[in-house]
Parts: sequence; structure tokens; C-alpha cells
Amino acid sequence: MVDPLSADSRQAPVLVEAPAKINLHLEVLGLRSDGFHELAMVMQSLDLADRLAIEPRSDGAIVLRCHDSTLPTDGSNLVVRAAELLRQHAGRPELGATIELEKRIPIGAGLAGGSSDGAAALLGLNRLWGLQLGDSTLQQLAAELGSDVPFTLSGGTQLCFGRGEILEPVPLTESGPRALGPQGPEELGVLLIKDPAASVSTPWAYGRCRELRGDFYLEYESDFEQRRQSLRDGALLAALHGERAVPPLRNDLQAVVEPEQQSVRTGLALLRQAIDPLAVAMSGSGPSLFALFAGLARAEAARDQLRDRLADGGFEVWCCRCSSMGVRIVQPDQAP
Ligand code: C5P
Repeated sequence: MVDPLSADSRQAPVLVEAPAKINLHLEVLGLRSDGFHELAMVMQSLDLADRLAIEPRSDGAIVLRCHDSTLPTDGSNLVVRAAELLRQHAGRPELGATIELEKRIPIGAGLAGGSSDGAAALLGLNRLWGLQLGDSTLQQLAAELGSDVPFTLSGGTQLCFGRGEILEPVPLTESGPRALGPQGPEELGVLLIKDPAASVSTPWAYGRCRELRGDFYLEYESDFEQRRQSLRDGALLAALHGERAVPPLRNDLQAVVEPEQQSVRTGLALLRQAIDPLAVAMSGSGPSLFALFAGLARAEAARDQLRDRLADGGFEVWCCRCSSMGVRIVQPDQAP
């Protein structure tokens, strides 16, 4: 057990990686009694990740610093909220930390960057403060912080139900998917684009979805379960198992956001001009967009092919791979 209040200035920082995610499927099933939407999703981690360096402080303060001055570092940031929730849960209000956040995931993009940073803070501070809370407690705290935080904590390729916090790993066959290569979804290359001038408020997107589609929402648990089962048995999971080609991806929020955001329409049209994308879609509530390819090299070739058109459209561009990992401590590698 580490005593975080003694000789703290000499303790090595805990470094945590916080990966982005994309939605391979986002289906709005209905409205819940808590006001959130009941969802059926497939989420996929990427190897595009933020980094947190966490050090103890003896004055009981939680201090977040970030090189990107557009990011709020006050109590509204999920990193600070995660730290406060964790020490409150542990009954240790005297615990403090300085957290240096290196932002690589675009902010406000539908890539769960903020949620992943919050999950990374939970994992990293649990280690730094020697709290030894188990996975299920961390998952519970993650769900209190936000709907995407539990997924980002465990990561990989998962079915996400409820508000998004009920996770079901997608079992991948041992022989390996044929369509996606021997490693399964990790073989997928991703070309990711975002117009830095565009932003979408998540509450707005869900509110608009309710206005447009509320009359068609399902109401009963048995209907929700039927949709979940269709997703488990459907074409997307078969594709992730290598049993067929990737089908068109469904994102119900894309249908809401696309008519309202010119940059989303332009970006999707550009990505569809790429050579051989397996699928093109918006992630989460947007406005980031992605195209999937059979391998990173093809994603990079598409980036080169579209470079001028993407630059003319004002898009920022990233190439990365799908990943099987959620947030993880990269240093120190052994629990003390
Ligand atoms: O849980 P999180 O803070 O990420 O949610 C942000 C907002 O998105 C919620 O306040 C709600 O308006 C909307 N939302 C929803 N149903 C979900 C997840 C989010 O309506 N399952």
C-alpha cells in the first residue's frame, strides 16, 4: 500500500494511455425513465490515445494541466470529476494529485476523448493512491461519470447496451476473421476526419432524435431485447468474425446530425470517394467521421489520395488502427 502523503515528490508519475473510440453501430431504441436513451451499440477502441501523467500532491488539491488551452481544466472536466469521485468513494478526501494531460484525440468530436481521460484518471489514481479498488467498483464509478466512460475503461470491441454502460465483449473466433485479416478488428485501418470549426452538442443530438423519431421509439424491455439479439446475430458481428463483408454501418444520430451540418455532409461525401473503403460513417454524435479499410496502409493511401480535397474542405485528418485495448497504465508496469 503506497502512502501518497509521504515523500510524494520522489514517487515516479503514473502514466496512463486513454484511447479514443468509434461507433461501429449506434441504434437508439427508446427513452428510459431516467431521461436517457436506451441504446444498442458496437464500440471499437482506436490506437489514437491521450496520455495522462499523474503525480501525488500533499496539499489535497486536484490540479489538471493541459497544453491545449481550449480544454477546460476546472471541475467540469471528467478527469477532475473522476478524481473527486474516487477519493470520495474511498473516504480519503485528503488525497491530492497533479494530472498532466497530453491531448491527441480531437476534442468534442464524438470519439469519447473526455470519457477516456476520465476512465484513465480512475485507473491511474487507483494505482497512485494505492486504493486497490477492483474492476467492478471502477466500472460502477465510471458509469456514474458518464455513459461512455465504462466502455473506454475496458475498451476493445464491445456491444454496449442500456445508456451505454452495460458491456458485452464481442467474442472473436480463434481461427481469425477472414475479411478483416488474422487479427480481427485490430487489422482495420481507420481514416478519421473532423472539421475543427464544427461541433455538435450530444444532448442536442439526442433531443433532436427524440423530436424526429420519438413516435417510433420502442417501449418494452422485450422489444429492446429483440433488437439487442438482432445486433448479436446480425451482419456487423458476422463481419467482425470474418464471415462476411462489412455491411453499411448504422448510426441513428448521423441521420439527425447530417441534415444540420454541412461539414458532415461534405466529409462523408469525400470519404466515400476513397479507394476501397469497407464502410464510412459518423462516430457517436459527431461531428468526426471515419472510413474503415482493410489495414492501416490502405487508410494511409486513402489519406494521400484525398489529401488536397480534405485540406480544401478544412478537415483535420488522422490515420490509426482499431485496437483491443482500453485505458491502461503504461508506467510503472507492475503494481507496487
Ligand atoms: O452520459 P453522458 O454525460 O455522456 O451524456 C450526455 C448527454 O447525452 C445526456 O445528458 C443526454 O442528454 C444524452 N444521452 C442520452 N442517452 C444516452 C447517453 C447520452 O440521452 N444513452
